[in-house]
Amino acid sequence: MVANRAPLLACPHMTTEPRDGVFSLLDEVDARKVVLCRDADTGLRAVIAIHSTIRGCAGGGIRMKPYGSDLDACRDALRLAGAMASKYAAAGMAVGGAKGVIIGDPAIDKTPELLRSFGRFVEEQGGEYFAAEDVGTNGDDMIAMAETTDKLLSLPESAGGPGDVSVTTAAGVCHAIRACCQRVWGSPDVEGRNIGIQGLGQVGMKLARLLAADGAQLVVADVDAARTAAAADEFGARVVEPKGICAHDVDVLAPCALGDAINDSNVDTIRARVVAGAANNVFSSSVVADQLQARGVIYAVDFVANAGGIVYDDQMVQRPRADHFDEERAKHYVDGIFDRTLMVFEIADAEGVSFWRAGLMLAERSRVASAE
Ligand code: NAI
Repeated sequence: MVANRAPLLACPHMTTEPRDGVFSLLDEVDARKVVLCRDADTGLRAVIAIHSTIRGCAGGGIRMKPYGSDLDACRDALRLAGAMASKYAAAGMAVGGAKGVIIGDPAIDKTPELLRSFGRFVEEQGGEYFAAEDVGTNGDDMIAMAETTDKLLSLPESAGGPGDVSVTTAAGVCHAIRACCQRVWGSPDVEGRNIGIQGLGQVGMKLARLLAADGAQLVVADVDAARTAAAADEFGARVVEPKGICAHDVDVLAPCALGDAINDSNVDTIRARVVAGAANNVFSSSVVADQLQARGVIYAVDFVANAGGIVYDDQMVQRPRADHFDEERAKHYVDGIFDRTLMVFEIADAEGVSFWRAGLMLAERSRVASAE
C-alpha cells in the first residue's frame, strides 16, 4: 500500500513575526519544510525536515530513536537538517541540508516493512530529499529502503553505493587534526603527539589506525572494553576510563563518540591544546565552544572536520547517476578539510569572531558561491 502524503508545514518566506506552535520550530532554525509521515499499516511515525535546497535537492541521514515527544522529534530533525546544510555548504558542495527521523527503538521497532514505508515517503518528495544512514540505521536498512526509493546517498558497495564512508570521515578528521597542529605548533606533523580518542567505533578506530601510522601516541576510551583492548593490542594505545578521557593530559582530544562531549560540566577541565574529532554537535552549546576558546584551546568546527562522510553525496544525487564514482573528486573534498579547517581560523582572525561563528561564515560564503 502506498502511504498518503502527509501535510506539509511550509514556511518559505517569513513576512510576519514568529509565532508559537509548529511554525516556531521552523522559525528557530530558519528551515523550509517539515513533512510528517504516518503509516498506520506499518506503525511508521517519522519526520523529514528540509532546511534548505540547493539546485533542488537536500541530503541527510535517517536517525531512528525513541523521542520524549513528537515535538522533540521535529526539533531534532530540524536541528540536524540545519547542521547538514552547514556541512554541505562549508564543503562547497551544491546540496542543501535535510534529515529524516523515524520515531522508535531500532532494536524493537525496526522492520523491513517500516523501512520500505519510509522509503516511499522519501520517494514522494520527488528528489528534493536524499536519505542516508545515521544513528540507528545502517547499510542493510538502506538496501531495504532501496526497494521503494532510489533517492539514497549511502548504500553498500554491493548495492551500487560508495560503501562505508567512515573511511573518508576518519581521513577527514585526520586532516582537521593536522591543520589544528599546524595552527598551534607550526607543523601538521602528529609524530610524537599525545592524542586522546573518545570512542573507538567506525570512525574512531580508523582514525586511531591513521594517527598511529603517523607516529602519534594514543590514549583511548570506550564504553566497550573489547574495542579499547583491540586498540591497545594493535596500536599500543593507553586505555583510560571513559569518564576521564576528556580531562586527560593530551596534546589533542578527538571526540568520536556522541554529541555534547564537551559541555558545561567538563569544559573547564579540558587539558588538550586541540579538540578535533568526528562527533556531530560536539559542544553542548556555542557558549561552551566560546568558553573553550577563551581558555586558549584551538578546536576544529565539527561540520568542517567530519565532512569526510559526505564526499560522495553530490555524485549520488546526480540523475542519471554515473556507473562509477569519481574517486579523485571525492579525495579532493576530503583533502580540502585541511585547508578549510585553517580557513576557519583565518576568518576568525580577520573578522574577530569565534571559531564557531567563523565556521558558519565559511559555510555561508561557500553556500552563496555554490548557489551561483
Ligand atoms: P559508532 O557508533 O560506530 O561509534 C561510537 C563509539 O563510541 C562506540 O564504540 C561506542 O561504544 C563509543 N561510546 C559511546 N559512548 C561513549 C562514551 N561515553 N565514552 C566513550 N566511548 C563511548 O559511531 P561512528 O560512526 O564511529 O560515529 C562517531 C561520531 O561521529 C558520531 O557522533 C557520529 O554522529 C559522528 N559522525 C560519523 C560519521 C561516519 O561516517 N560514521 C560521519 C560524520 C559524523
